[in-house]
Amino acid sequence: MIAPRLIDWQRRHGRHDLPWQRTRDPYRIWLSEVMLQQTQVDTVKPYYQRFVARFPDVGSLAAAQVDDVLALWSGLGYYSRARNLHRCAREVVARHAGVFPDDPQRLAELPGIGRSTAAAIAVFAFGRRAAILDGNVRRVLCRHEGVRGYPGERAVEAELWRIAEVELAHDDVEAYTQGLMDLGATLCVRARPACTACPIASDCVALREGVVAELPAPRPKRAVPLRRCTMFVIRRGPQVLVERRPPSGVWGGLWSLPESASAQGDAARPAVGGGPAGAGAPDPAALAAEIERRFGLRVTPPRALAPFDHAFTHFRLRVQPVDCDLVSAPRAADAPGLAWLALDDAGEAALPRPVKTLLQGLALRAPGAVAGTGGSATGG
Ligand code: ADE
Repeated sequence: MIAPRLIDWQRRHGRHDLPWQRTRDPYRIWLSEVMLQQTQVDTVKPYYQRFVARFPDVGSLAAAQVDDVLALWSGLGYYSRARNLHRCAREVVARHAGVFPDDPQRLAELPGIGRSTAAAIAVFAFGRRAAILDGNVRRVLCRHEGVRGYPGERAVEAELWRIAEVELAHDDVEAYTQGLMDLGATLCVRARPACTACPIASDCVALREGVVAELPAPRPKRAVPLRRCTMFVIRRGPQVLVERRPPSGVWGGLWSLPESASAQGDAARPAVGGGPAGAGAPDPAALAAEIERRFGLRVTPPRALAPFDHAFTHFRLRVQPVDCDLVSAPRAADAPGLAWLALDDAGEAALPRPVKTLLQGLALRAPGAVAGTGGSATGG
């Protein structure tokens, strides 16, 4: 049972003069709790002061233009909070006659008020008995109870809510709730927590088992799929052919090296060019034929350059660049999405980072590369 120790500690060592304390005004408490959802106390304080000076009650906020609300929020981040705040104020006025409900479940039906925020409002404004579970409290409970799973997982979150309900004080719920928040914000912090000063250290499972630094468990790293592609480095003297990518999707709208249509795919398919995964050798004749078919350019047999990987959020891309020289242009493609780019201009071009790095490397290695010819459309 942690409640008696937390309440006692909060009274003696907790925070008592935050701008939203010493009030029972649900409007002010709601506003502070929404601001504090993803933002630290010190950042919130001046925003909170400006906000209540401009919009002193729910009616004035509901009557405001959303742009004025967003302007006051500017710099706090997570702007959906400000939009929901405004929507919530309008709902409280329209559906609840301007009076916040005191029941946590009804509060949680309002825009931008989740289960934990609803509980905090119900506790601080109405003295109701309800359990909170924000990020700081999650950390405190994970450690004290030795919960090992990643809290973003449904089952782990459900377990934490169960613990939060079990531990919830029967009396002095405000001091208890503020104590949990204060403990998470001041002692049981993520890095180098002050366990020697902690009022509930004596039965903290993580401390006993020496895993305080490991809890809460971080988000498990997802195994991201590996995709492969072959990029053409088609050279015309000091220039290379670049192609504008479609406006949506990966690297949308940027210029990049043309990619082989035949050698793309996931890791199950062998990559042309023999990447580190041990795929087969490139078929230079097939690549040269593809270049002539697609761009009307006859080239020397493409040679594999060093492959490289690039990490996207949802997959890894293994790129096999192949290098060739223009021999002749019997039917040069006159497409607006194609251009010749001087290698020396790669640094300033709108290219994806890894492509820019590749081209800059080639520019450095090019013997006697001439700078400054600029990009001009093919066939032009
Ligand atoms: N974080 C979330 N709510 C808080 C509050 N009322 N006081 C301090 N920190 C908080």
